[in-house]
Amino acid sequence: MTKQFVEQQNSDQKVFAKIIFEQQFEHSAELVCHAPARVNLIGDHTDYNDGFVLPAAINYGTTIAASAREDNLVKVYAHDCAEETNEFSLNEITFDEEMMWSNYVKGTLQALMNKHPEIKGANLVVTGNVPQGAGLSSSASFEIAILKAFTQLYQLDLNGINAALIGQQAENDFVGCNCGIMDQLISAMGQQGHAMLLDCKDLSFEDAPIPDNLTLFIVNSNVKRGLVESAYNLRRQQCEDVASHFGVSALRDVTLEQLNSAQDKIDPVLFKRARHVITENLRVVTTLKALKNNDMATISVAMKESHASLRDDFEVTTKEMDGLVDIIDSVLGTNGGVRMTGGGFGGCVVALVPTVMVEQIKDVVDNRYEKEFNLTPSVYLCRATQGAFR
Ligand code: GLA
Repeated sequence: MTKQFVEQQNSDQKVFAKIIFEQQFEHSAELVCHAPARVNLIGDHTDYNDGFVLPAAINYGTTIAASAREDNLVKVYAHDCAEETNEFSLNEITFDEEMMWSNYVKGTLQALMNKHPEIKGANLVVTGNVPQGAGLSSSASFEIAILKAFTQLYQLDLNGINAALIGQQAENDFVGCNCGIMDQLISAMGQQGHAMLLDCKDLSFEDAPIPDNLTLFIVNSNVKRGLVESAYNLRRQQCEDVASHFGVSALRDVTLEQLNSAQDKIDPVLFKRARHVITENLRVVTTLKALKNNDMATISVAMKESHASLRDDFEVTTKEMDGLVDIIDSVLGTNGGVRMTGGGFGGCVVALVPTVMVEQIKDVVDNRYEKEFNLTPSVYLCRATQGAFR
């Protein structure tokens, strides 16, 4: 997939959002902006432990057409959420039990107003092409797109890191998911053609080029995810419990040796959770180095171990995701890497695939996954794109 193709795709989405805006509001949009979704190459469930992650922004995302209002009303038309319209005042933001999607707008604007009380209302049209609930961060791309739109409408002094923190606050305090910072930060600050090594302890990051001959091959297992938020929040709590056992604020500051020597004092389930986090941080660092050296064999091993650790120690995979990984691995071997990506409990797997092998991998997925698991896979061939605030 070429860079020109990605640019064309983004500009088509923007034109589309503008047209819908005119139909809905009977005037032209002042601006159109876009925020990408993400895929995480390695480093899952490490971000909220102050650890390392290696995500990339991808050429799927949320596009918003917007115009400012003189009053405090926000009118949002969500083209891809049953074409619903939601209207609320910035003076009175309450959780909506029915239109769940609107809570991302409400939570984001409530958090934004803590820093920028000067904002006023807006008319908004939202459209997106990120599969929802698939572990590709449709919600973070939504939050970052809203923040980009308001930053431009009201000339706010807001950088990508602060935007990411506001998006995360919306999830934590309003939506009720205690997520980390990875998804919002990569959506805001991703770099075209690169993955990002992000240190979630101090939010410093480094762009890591993805070699040109590789494709980000993503497959949605299409497993229906249930009770994800409560299971996710529980994992986070378990990690925090082990951190406090060691008297530190996050597992980032516990070594594998320390953990192993305290094994008989820690609940066996909590021990496994912590072992995942600590070993996953090491794998992120190994993968970054291997990516720089185009060392696919090392990447292959690190991604395989990451998946196994998420399956056995963190227990967030499903048999369908495990099956997809095995199916892809049977053809890919050490030419690339494959693992689940994101929060888990269903959703996508990601493979770093030499572009010359893409068709072969697609064939094996098409031929085997549906037969073995009775679900139709969706394949997304992606490129790393630019974040909304970069
Ligand atoms: C979700 C969260 C992220 C991160 C991943 C797992 O996507 O939003 O903060 O914790 O799960 O790596």
